[in-house]
Amino acid sequence: MMLKIIETVKDMRVFVQDARRAGKTIGLVPTMGALHEGHLTLMREAKSACDIVVASIFVNPTQFGPNEDFAAYPRKFENDCRLAEGVGVDAIFHPQPAEMYPPGFATSVNVTGITDKLCGLSRPGHFQGVATVVTKLFNIVTPDIAFFGQKDAQQCLVIQRMAEDLNMNLKINMVPTVRDSNGLALSSRNAYLSPEETQAALVLSQSMQMAAQAVKKGERDIAALREMVCNTIQAEPRAEIDYVEIYQYPDLQTTATLTDKALLALAVRFGKTRLIDNMILSVSN
Ligand code: PAJ
Repeated sequence: MMLKIIETVKDMRVFVQDARRAGKTIGLVPTMGALHEGHLTLMREAKSACDIVVASIFVNPTQFGPNEDFAAYPRKFENDCRLAEGVGVDAIFHPQPAEMYPPGFATSVNVTGITDKLCGLSRPGHFQGVATVVTKLFNIVTPDIAFFGQKDAQQCLVIQRMAEDLNMNLKINMVPTVRDSNGLALSSRNAYLSPEETQAALVLSQSMQMAAQAVKKGERDIAALREMVCNTIQAEPRAEIDYVEIYQYPDLQTTATLTDKALLALAVRFGKTRLIDNMILSVSN
């Protein structure tokens, strides 16, 4: 099947209706475009689990703060279409902002609790923007399974919470983070980095690997693990820490001791670029 590009909610519903009539299952991969191997891995997973794959490409204005990079966010629609088609995506939903937020739009979805830390703290309103647009995408595409990356682990947990709380009739699959061979997690925002900043950003995965090694050797003290990661990142002069936190996984509760699994989550600036990364620390690895 040829890749279909769909710009309106109405046309998307027709596409979905046709797929349902043919008895097909639907997988959805929500993205903001500037596709890289991380996004494409989600799409391949979707293709292997579902008959039809819809990817959305929408730089969602409501999840960006006033001083964030909404205007500068990379937009590469034609190249994205080629890449998506190459991994078997059947349709791209590519609405304009006015199609998603027409005049009079007044509703939002707010997940409490797990949004009051990490990126929820440093980006006020961000997860409300994400939860609202993802709810709309779920209602428009009605997927059987939606695919999200562990790269944005808190986002994935927020969506899982929301889907469960609001009885959304779908499965949420979390796909492991795709990294460059040097360890850097792939991100559309890596395009902002200078070569020197890219080199400096390797400290993120390196510091997390150190923590994982320490856990392997028996370290269970959360404060000690956190300090080890902070010190490693602070030794890199181009890195400026936004947050380094370790919370129990998956409930993101505060804990002093690693008992089963914990989410080590980082947000660090390199020049003007804020990168996030994370790793699930586990006593059984
Ligand atoms: P975006 O940053 O484009 O990411 C789209 C999806 O790709 C997310 O689920 C994200 O976790 C996943 N992803 C990004 N980099 C990845 C990597 N290196 N490995 C694995 N998965 C990766 O996240 C968003 O867009 C938006 O918030 C969105 C959910 C589309 C709502 O607007």
